[in-house]
Amino acid sequence: MDHTFVMVKPDGVARGLIGEIVSRFEQKGFKLIDGKVITISQEIAEQHYREHREKPFFGELVEFITSGPVFAMIWEGKDAVKNARSIIGKTNPSDALPGSIRGDFALQVESNIVHGADSEESAQREIALFFGK
Ligand code: PPS
Repeated sequence: MDHTFVMVKPDGVARGLIGEIVSRFEQKGFKLIDGKVITISQEIAEQHYREHREKPFFGELVEFITSGPVFAMIWEGKDAVKNARSIIGKTNPSDALPGSIRGDFALQVESNIVHGADSEESAQREIALFFGK
């Protein structure tokens, strides 16, 4: 069975949306394999987002993800990466459809509530980075 890495970002945790987001994944049929609240270090944040290090918003992205606790999760299910990103919605909440997490709860790309791995390779790398497995 496929696995993916998902994380409720500091804005989602601060707004009390962990339960809502976990519930949406469970309703879809995903199985929660592991989950934990953590505050990400600068070093882990830079590793996590390393593929975006040349982008102009990289500094803001790292600052934001380290600004408060996140809820990191491993979810199991068919086509986990693709189906998780479908539940989450488009990166820019302005493009995210109602019914998706970002479509229902976010307005700005700088604070878009939740992260989902964007490929099988990223999922494996992020699971290893955050859970060591
Ligand atoms: S994606 O999902 O990788 O295809 O999206 P991408 O557009 O490449 O964005 C990568 C991550 O950067 C975040 N992002 C931004 N942060 C701050 N400011 C701006 N302008 C911005 N644009 C994109 C975006 O939410 C992605 O973070 P994650 O955690 O992967 O969702």
